[in-house]
Amino acid sequence: MSNKPLNIGLVGGGKGAFIVHPHQKAIHMDGTRRIVAGALFPDPVVALEEAKNWPYPIKGYTSYDEMIAANATAPPEEKLDYILIVTPNFVHYDPAMKAMKAGIAVFCEKPLCLNLKEANDLVKTSRKLNVPFALAHTYLGHWTSRFSRYIVQSGLLGDIRWVDSYYIQGWLASKLEATGQQQAAWRVDPKRAGGSGCGGDIGTHALMQLRYVTGLDVTELSAQLETFVEGRMLDDHFTIYCKLSNGGKALVRASQICIGSKNDLGITIAGSKGSLIWRQEEPEKITICLPNQPDRVYWRGAVQAGDGFIPKNAPAELLTEPTIPAGHPEAFHDAFARLHRAFEGDVRKWKAGKKFACDGSKYATVEDGWTGLAFIETCLKSSAKKGAWTKMPKPI
Ligand SMILES: NC(=O)c1ccc[n+]([C@@H]2O[C@H](COP(=O)([O-])OP(=O)(O)OC[C@H]3O[C@@H](n4cnc5c(N)ncnc54)[C@H](O)[C@@H]3O)[C@@H](O)[C@H]2O)c1
Repeated sequence: MSNKPLNIGLVGGGKGAFIVHPHQKAIHMDGTRRIVAGALFPDPVVALEEAKNWPYPIKGYTSYDEMIAANATAPPEEKLDYILIVTPNFVHYDPAMKAMKAGIAVFCEKPLCLNLKEANDLVKTSRKLNVPFALAHTYLGHWTSRFSRYIVQSGLLGDIRWVDSYYIQGWLASKLEATGQQQAAWRVDPKRAGGSGCGGDIGTHALMQLRYVTGLDVTELSAQLETFVEGRMLDDHFTIYCKLSNGGKALVRASQICIGSKNDLGITIAGSKGSLIWRQEEPEKITICLPNQPDRVYWRGAVQAGDGFIPKNAPAELLTEPTIPAGHPEAFHDAFARLHRAFEGDVRKWKAGKKFACDGSKYATVEDGWTGLAFIETCLKSSAKKGAWTKMPKPI
């Protein structure tokens, strides 16, 4: 298999864009992937200009249609290995679909798309064409998320009774969209964001964290979608009481009106033998609480197997995986890099004609994106009926 760095094409990312920048740092972190092309802006002239202004040479395209079409006849060394979609939610479906049909793997920002109908199409197409597809649920890329998943799913906390998974922000506590602020403007517009504002934007992260770490699904829910800022069309406060597939209960909650809260994503998991507490604003540590014992704090890179809680046979892959020694802090960019690193592995296998995993153990999948949309649509139905208990649809 070739050791040449993988070629990545951007969809979106020009003129004051946000999330493209953490991605581009993460992509270049290992030297084994690189951004080589981009359709960076909806206006074709600006798109080319923005590509010229990119901090290192990339090939600019007037549109993602042009970039995907050009790939068919590009020389092998210039062909794209995957595209990264970093546009607002309403520009996810079309480029993802076109890229898959052109034989290009897809790394797409969350939420997957605007609604469940689009999500159905994307899942079916990715399965039919067997194209690797990753969804950018950043926080799964923290080593602590992976280790928490091991702790919970190997039964070390006993039966899971209760989960509180939350993402609390304060940046939309006033009508920021009225100032024209780029990131706020499209997030509160149903045509560009989807049926839920806060829920679609960050409630889906809280849901994904719950599902990834516990391996449990939401089966039924009672939702309250609320809008505190006057005149806003979508919810800015999202509170969902959930029944879980093992009979446990959970709260999945998100808010964008809590002044002072920044990116307070966290999860508390209460099992019959103990509890786990994790917050992404302190992403290197996991706290474990066991009955009648002092709390234990596990730091990335500093876990000893056989310590009385973590068993001797804990997977070596998890114990040795850290990229830099404990105490040199990892954070947001490193989480993104871990997702791209795992996806790169699958894309390389796919290109070599081998079986690839894409199984949700190292990054979120197109199916996880479908579940996010199914959750949002079920929440909208329940909330419209004043929080009536409403069943989630059967997994696709
Ligand atoms: N994973 C995370 O932690 C995380 C964090 C923030 C945002 N996001 C997601 O990333 C996506 C982008 O969010 P953002 O905050 O970076 O938005 P943004 O507004 O900062 O950037 C969007 C970019 O897309 C470009 N764009 C729009 N339509 C286009 C088109 N047709 N062709 C080419 N470019 C086009 C815009 O010009 C802009 O450059 C959203 O789906 C959002 O939900 C994810």
